[in-house]
Amino acid sequence: MPANPRPTMPDRVNVLLIGGGGREHALAWQIKQSSRLGRLWVDPSANAGLRAMGTPCPEPISKPAMFRLNRWCDKEEIGLVVIGPEAPLADGWADDLATETRLVFGPGRAGARLEADKGWAKEIMRSASIPTAEGRVFKERGPAIAYAMSREEGCVVKASGLAAGKGVIVCRTPEAAVEAVEMMMGDPERHTQGSFGAAGDTVVIEELLLGQEMSVLAFVDGRSIWVLDPCQDHKQVGEGDVGPNTGGMGAYCPTPLATPEIMSRIERDVLVPTIDALRREGIVFRGVLYAGMMLTTGGPKVLEFNCRFGDPECQPLMARLQGDLLEVLWATAAGQLNELESGLESDPRTACCVVLCSAGYPGSITKGHPITGIEDAEAEAGSGETVIVFQSGTTIDPRDRVVTAGGRVISVTALAADLATAQDLANRAADKIEFAGAFFRRDIGSRVMNPIS
Ligand code: AMP
Ligand code: GLY
Repeated sequence: MPANPRPTMPDRVNVLLIGGGGREHALAWQIKQSSRLGRLWVDPSANAGLRAMGTPCPEPISKPAMFRLNRWCDKEEIGLVVIGPEAPLADGWADDLATETRLVFGPGRAGARLEADKGWAKEIMRSASIPTAEGRVFKERGPAIAYAMSREEGCVVKASGLAAGKGVIVCRTPEAAVEAVEMMMGDPERHTQGSFGAAGDTVVIEELLLGQEMSVLAFVDGRSIWVLDPCQDHKQVGEGDVGPNTGGMGAYCPTPLATPEIMSRIERDVLVPTIDALRREGIVFRGVLYAGMMLTTGGPKVLEFNCRFGDPECQPLMARLQGDLLEVLWATAAGQLNELESGLESDPRTACCVVLCSAGYPGSITKGHPITGIEDAEAEAGSGETVIVFQSGTTIDPRDRVVTAGGRVISVTALAADLATAQDLANRAADKIEFAGAFFRRDIGSRVMNPIS
């Protein structure tokens, strides 16, 4: 990033928000509430709900169009670019779009490697003694298979590169582990290629950790960090945590799993040493650091790092935030988090987000099914309650209808006094939304409410 040590936030900031899903809809919903917002420009690929919150950028947002996009940003006096998804971050768009007068929220290519190269992330963790699953990194198929065969107690096989949340396979037997390696790295005898392309050329095979999962996200301005209330995501497609992993079927915040003691351990033993380890590598990380944690009997351990807000975790986080998000995004990107005069508070209520998905997700799905009931869902909220319908994979069809356009379609987010009430409200609200083949998990948050079952 160009050296610009002391930028001052203008009274009005024009923002370009890159990314078009539920996470970005939730970010836009908060950014729109800022008194410092000038104009909000959204990604031309944005879902129908997000599009309605801003002006679609007329330029294509892509790597080959970066030169034109930069010129356009100059012309429109964009003061802050917010990059939501991991793929553009891993592709170095933050490096491309930052200038003397324009800040970018989201790390450059070097920092995004923490998510985009799980093998490298393991090395960073090892070098900084950050608690994580024991694991080994393989670039060759033969040794990976031999190691997988030796894991009698089960293991987890991960594609090292980006795979949209689907590149992790939890294997209970050595046979399942061998099959996972073959799926990711290909099998020359059967003439098959790896299912994730280059993302699976390197695999990480690691110890199977047991416990409850928790997502801890923090704003990081290169040096200072600001930890947000912890969330719990639900990655598996089926109720009771069964079936294949997805990008996330629902999340709630805050989670009672996070005692103050656990949170301070995670800050001290994971977040701070990670930022320090990156700095030792010469990397200034400005954006969100997301630590996917497993709370094991041996203490909290890192499952993965992401270099951005989680989706769906961002939806309950944004639903609860009180304060000026735009000021915080700007201060993070400027390296000035510790100079903020007023911070972000959280709504004391619990937020529970359930994600309505298309039939077949996380496998193949069909698109273009009309969606109804969004207003009815929001009207489910009783006194002291709120329902916000964030859209994920939706678009407007030629007949001007909101239709499905992805695997994860709608993120219904409910705020209520406690988790049980928020879950019930989110489920009732989600029941009001209909499209062909819609399904969702009704048990978001149940694992902490009924820990024995
Ligand atoms: P990741 O993308 O690395 O977070 O992995 C996706 C999901 O796979 C996690 O949210 C966990 O549910 C599961 N997972 C990943 N690593 C492990 C591990 N070492 N032990 C048990 N489950 C894991
Ligand atoms: N919800 C998990 C993720 O965004 O990676």
